[in-house]
Amino acid sequence: MPPLLSLDGIKVHFSSRKMLFRADTVRAVDGVTLSLDRGETVSIVGESGSGKTTLGRASLRLAPITEGTVVFDGDDITRIPDGKLRWFRRRAQAVFQDPYSSIDPFMDVRQVLEEPLLIHDIQDRADRVQQALEEVRLAPAGEFSGKFPHMLSGGQRQRVGIARALIMQPDYILADEPVSMIDASSRTEILYLMRELQERLGIAFLYITHDIATARYFSDRIAVLYLGRVAEQGPPGEVLDEPMHPYTVALIEAVPEADPDNRLRDRPTVPGEPPNPSNVPTGCRFHPRCPEFMAGLCDVVEPELVEARPGRFVACHLFSPATHTNGAESAQSAEE
Ligand SMILES: Nc1ncnc2c1ncn2[C@@H]1O[C@H](COP(=O)(O)OP(=O)(O)OP(=O)(O)O)[C@@H](O)[C@H]1O
Ligand code: SF4
Ligand SMILES: [Mg+2]
Repeated sequence: MPPLLSLDGIKVHFSSRKMLFRADTVRAVDGVTLSLDRGETVSIVGESGSGKTTLGRASLRLAPITEGTVVFDGDDITRIPDGKLRWFRRRAQAVFQDPYSSIDPFMDVRQVLEEPLLIHDIQDRADRVQQALEEVRLAPAGEFSGKFPHMLSGGQRQRVGIARALIMQPDYILADEPVSMIDASSRTEILYLMRELQERLGIAFLYITHDIATARYFSDRIAVLYLGRVAEQGPPGEVLDEPMHPYTVALIEAVPEADPDNRLRDRPTVPGEPPNPSNVPTGCRFHPRCPEFMAGLCDVVEPELVEARPGRFVACHLFSPATHTNGAESAQSAEE
């Protein structure tokens, strides 16, 4: 069966005007190919600024796509005008860090949940609101539906955010750091809830996080993003226990062992200059920070993402003998 969502060679470049006549190109996403099967969860991890949110937004047609295609359930939606995307807007939903950032704070929970139903002219609203509140364990529904955001805890607000996504009965949910603003004790509950919903309702999730530990628990596959490209991809147990790409190794090593409050884990710091999407290095984009750097190859030839082992995809010359040979040749011809 074809994937539910296919992102093929996605690039999202922004222009950032620094001076009057000079604009830098911000290569936020720079050639990502990724697919999501029905009911599957893929986690995207990577440092701040690696392009996770932009990629997620591109998957929902909420970021301007410079190059590449987005295919949803067999339909290429890359360039369909917004007015013709209503069907897609019902089937693809998002849960963001702060669910109330884009919601009127004077709406009560019932109004928050009814709003998308009204936009899409869906009729059985009262039943759907009740059902969605029950799904996210905000029961009894009657008790919560009249509450305003300031009357809810962080965890309850995010449950409302999830209910608002669920109420459209979607096939796909983008969850962009859904628990990073919630206290540690409620995080696990919310993640368990999302996992349960995903399994029971067969919803596909793209789960964006800094927290590698939750990516392991929550996903079927994990993709490590570096400067707008996938460095490594595979089953979470394998990628996290036996990382192949030097960036994945550094990212995992950067997670502090003792972090009882679960705060540092959110922002692992990899040694070296933080990546700058306005100034992407030549060759392998990780080469200025890579302990395995091979001069004349890594700074010249960009490694392709190849299947280094069954189900394991890596973009690194260490795992790509063909590129190695070609790279050595091209490095040599570059010198000549
Ligand atoms: N609209 C925009 N215009 C210009 N640059 C942008 C825009 N949106 C994102 N960027 C830049 O693109 C890069 C990737 O941003 P993005 O928010 O996707 O990263 P991220 O991996 O989600 O980071 P974080 O972990 O901090 O949320 C950053 O350098 C960011 O400043
Ligand atoms: S291609 Fe070279 S620089 Fe890039 S990660 Fe692999 S070894 Fe390091
Ligand atoms: Mg982000």
